[in-house]
Amino acid sequence: MSMLFEPFTLAGIELDNRMVRSATYEKLADVDGFVTEELIVLYRSLAKGGVGLIITGNALVHVSGRSVPQAICIHNDFYIDKLKKLTYAVHKKSGKIVLQLVHGGRQCFPSMLGAEQPLAPSEVYEPTLKMTPRPMTDEEIWGVIEAFGDAARRAMYADFDGIQIHGAHGYLVNNFLSPHTNKRTDYWGGDEERRFHFLEEVFKAIRKEVGDHYPVLIKLNSADFVAGGLAIDESLRIAKRLEDLGLDAIEVSGGIYESELKSARTNIKTVEQEAYFREAASRFKKELNITVIIVGGIRSKAVAEKILKEGDADLISFSRPLIREPDLPNKFKEGKEKADCISCNGCMRFMKLDMVKCTQLGKEGN
Ligand SMILES: Cc1cc2nc3c(=O)[nH]c(=O)nc-3n(C[C@H](O)[C@H](O)[C@H](O)COP(=O)(O)O)c2cc1C
Repeated sequence: MSMLFEPFTLAGIELDNRMVRSATYEKLADVDGFVTEELIVLYRSLAKGGVGLIITGNALVHVSGRSVPQAICIHNDFYIDKLKKLTYAVHKKSGKIVLQLVHGGRQCFPSMLGAEQPLAPSEVYEPTLKMTPRPMTDEEIWGVIEAFGDAARRAMYADFDGIQIHGAHGYLVNNFLSPHTNKRTDYWGGDEERRFHFLEEVFKAIRKEVGDHYPVLIKLNSADFVAGGLAIDESLRIAKRLEDLGLDAIEVSGGIYESELKSARTNIKTVEQEAYFREAASRFKKELNITVIIVGGIRSKAVAEKILKEGDADLISFSRPLIREPDLPNKFKEGKEKADCISCNGCMRFMKLDMVKCTQLGKEGN
């Protein structure tokens, strides 16, 4: 019996199956971050394609955290009306949709911030973008915390089924959690408990705005994969603390821009190389009572089924495979065994592309 197509209730959201579209930036909002018709068309095709839950590309909560061009914005009430059109389109196709909230922190492309330096907990050079961020003042920190809460309230007004805090991949929340990027010695850093304070306050600000029953998820690094970075034991304790505070689900990921092991890895040639966060997800699943979502390199139906059957995660997330085939879940259901995606990361060269898309499509043999 297949588990992948079984329904699942995630904090009250009734999902048709166990497949999730992991947050994937599309470069399809307009230059001011408003939802466009093209974005709606894409989300409609994802919902029609059968995925149980769609997590949006990262949506910006505060202008100081703009990391990439044409991402969805939610830092102002102005955005709500068009976001509502997006949720309406998904719900009309019986889909479910969660908005991912982000502040880019230390990893904002220089062209995104004009003459401003990126903001981060501490002044730790970022080698891929070749920028040194400016440590945030106390006032700036509280301002961004409030912005997360405000954004969550807007998401609720725009009829999203829930929100996901982007706590992974080297953006601001991860910057505060990670001993590699947080060198502060005040309330916001210095030891594990204090490094957690920023996320704790963000979580509380969100709950204050949306109440106790609105689904709140997080994407968290199991590890940063840099020397002195966040490692799995601390990450498990972070997740446990969040569970105690009332978190509903965790998506287990890893890696930051400068790490050798990335969140989206290449050279996945065998089924054994798929699901590269499986061991980590399994540990979260064992230690937590909330929903655990696994992401990272999953392309085969058999691999996804095995993870569910062996109890290493509750839900299976896909990003790159759905860029190439938004209807992959339906295809799996109809008997397809493996995604066409080859994890080449051509889609990641978005600064050179007009939008995020599969660069293999249209090539000979594809
Ligand atoms: C083009 C692209 C955009 C992405 N955008 C986001 C994002 O906005 N938020 C996020 O948490 N992860 C983002 N990711 C990471 C994916 O959600 C996922 O964690 C990673 O690609 C591994 O999963 P996969 O092997 O199924 O692609 C992105 C990945 C790609 C390839």
